Amino acid sequence: MADQTGAQAVTAKPFLTDIKTLRQRARKHIEQGAITEGYSADRDTVVKLLNEALATEIICVLRYKRHYFMATGINAESVAAEFLQHANEEQGHADLIAQRIVQLGGEPDFSPEGLATRSHAEYVEGENLIDMIREDLVAERIAIDSYREMITYVNTDDPTTRRMLEGILAMEEEHADDLVSLLETMGK
Ligand SMILES: [Fe+2]
Ligand SMILES: [Fe+2]
Repeated sequence: MADQTGAQAVTAKPFLTDIKTLRQRARKHIEQGAITEGYSADRDTVVKLLNEALATEIICVLRYKRHYFMATGINAESVAAEFLQHANEEQGHADLIAQRIVQLGGEPDFSPEGLATRSHAEYVEGENLIDMIREDLVAERIAIDSYREMITYVNTDDPTTRRMLEGILAMEEEHADDLVSLLETMGK
């Protein structure tokens, strides 16, 4: 509770749970695996958000793969190499997210049906190399904003999911940076 000065009121609550309570709690609902009673996030919402992120990553893999195979022109080789690297890294993100969904007791949604609708980023083929890079940059910027929002939502309620999201966010920022550099190299 914040008072008028905005400072947090001091609570009498002890910082750590005593060992006995901790041990008793751990024995209850052991079938829930990593999810203990101390998990304070809304699990269904976290799983839902992670499934949207999973769809986004899959769409990004597909778009980068399409761009990788379709890249032609003078700068095609180095740009294609970048596309492929990003495709593989987005695949890595998708795998991390799917694994975390399972840990949270959810099911990763890999269904092709509605995939593009579940995804935050779009699948745009692009007419030429510059177009492709621009579309990828737009998608990365969408991913950056949505990961940042998810991190704010998860806050301190689920540190493991948060850490994963922060790692992914940092890489999406690198991707965006790489794409801007490519555009600059190509004088666009
Ligand atoms: Fe990603
Ligand atoms: Fe990315």
